Amino acid sequence: MSEVTKAFTPVQVGKNLLKNRIVMAPMTRSRAQDPGSLATDLMALYYSQRASAGLIISEGIQPSVVGQGYIQTPGLYSKEQVASWRQVTDAVHAAGGVIFAQLMHSGRIGHADLHEGALAPMAPSAVAAEGQAYTTNGMQDFPVPVEMTEADILQTIEDFANAARNAVEAGFDGVEIHGANGYLVHQFLSDNVNLRTDAWGSSVEGHIKFPLEVTKAVVAAIGADRVGIRLSPANPFNGIVENNIQATYTALVSELAKLDLAYLHFMENPMQNGLVTEIRALWTNPLILNVFVADRAKGRDDLVAIDEGRADLISFGQLFISNPDLPARLLSDGPYNEANPATFYGGAAEGYTDYSTLG
Ligand SMILES: Cc1cc2nc3c(=O)[nH]c(=O)nc-3n(C[C@H](O)[C@H](O)[C@H](O)COP(=O)(O)O)c2cc1C
Repeated sequence: MSEVTKAFTPVQVGKNLLKNRIVMAPMTRSRAQDPGSLATDLMALYYSQRASAGLIISEGIQPSVVGQGYIQTPGLYSKEQVASWRQVTDAVHAAGGVIFAQLMHSGRIGHADLHEGALAPMAPSAVAAEGQAYTTNGMQDFPVPVEMTEADILQTIEDFANAARNAVEAGFDGVEIHGANGYLVHQFLSDNVNLRTDAWGSSVEGHIKFPLEVTKAVVAAIGADRVGIRLSPANPFNGIVENNIQATYTALVSELAKLDLAYLHFMENPMQNGLVTEIRALWTNPLILNVFVADRAKGRDDLVAIDEGRADLISFGQLFISNPDLPARLLSDGPYNEANPATFYGGAAEGYTDYSTLG
């Protein structure tokens, strides 16, 4: 067993003193209640079962109707949604946990059939993604998105700020801005979905402008010590192409560092060529690392990155799906339950709240 000493010690992240450095990564599970994109009592049970994490980051939550990319994902733009999340945050807090809401606008990854009023998906430029959306009317090709006007951009920034205020009102301890995995914020950073020639594209400053303005607006709404952001440089997921991650992300992170955020959640991947080391040097506040592992199962060994100083916290996705008591299992290095991908998205309690705990 490798040397792991720090992972189980407390750490201050923004406003919150976390009991350990093990983070539940954000994961869409498509179990919200429709109509209304509401959180449910089953979701409250699911998250509260995982409250031994130092920090839980919720599934992606749309800040607006048009920001919804998948079926049965929850929102944070209506009064009813705010009320529905209360049962989740109360249950997590009663179990001793801390929970942030991930604000996720899917941009071109979506479909009008997912949206009340059949709103067309929007993106920095009118470039369709390859592939299909799973809608209420079955699988359908991703449409050519509407190119956002300046007014659309400003409204979307306001939607993020409003959703952040709603998150706090619903009892969340903070929010994570989803800047990763090919959704709207990442689309602005990309070279193939952002073909704009105005101030929101064309140069490095232009490409980082939307992520920065969203973050500043969210900070103004709820305070920097309640705001994190997730980034995944060079992640080609959802058809993203990035030609110069070094210039783009060092510029972005340098600017973000001035805002004194609660954390940066960085997703590692092999195409980054060690960019994370440079990012680490630019970022003095807490860094959550989602470690990339190719040659072994994830587990206790990933926590060594904290002792080595490469990160302050480590996030786990799939292991948290199948191991509600993951921190205890990491302490003993297993045994781990295996997650069943067939129940990742949609359905009810099966594969959601029925995974066993140790002992
Ligand atoms: C079922 C599932 C849903 C996911 N949904 C999201 C999401 O809503 N937002 C996000 O940022 N990442 C999402 N991810 C990515 C995870 O947060 C995580 O980065 C990824 O699973 C790799 O970490 P892991 O190897 O520990 O699972 C999802 C992953 C899975 C397996």
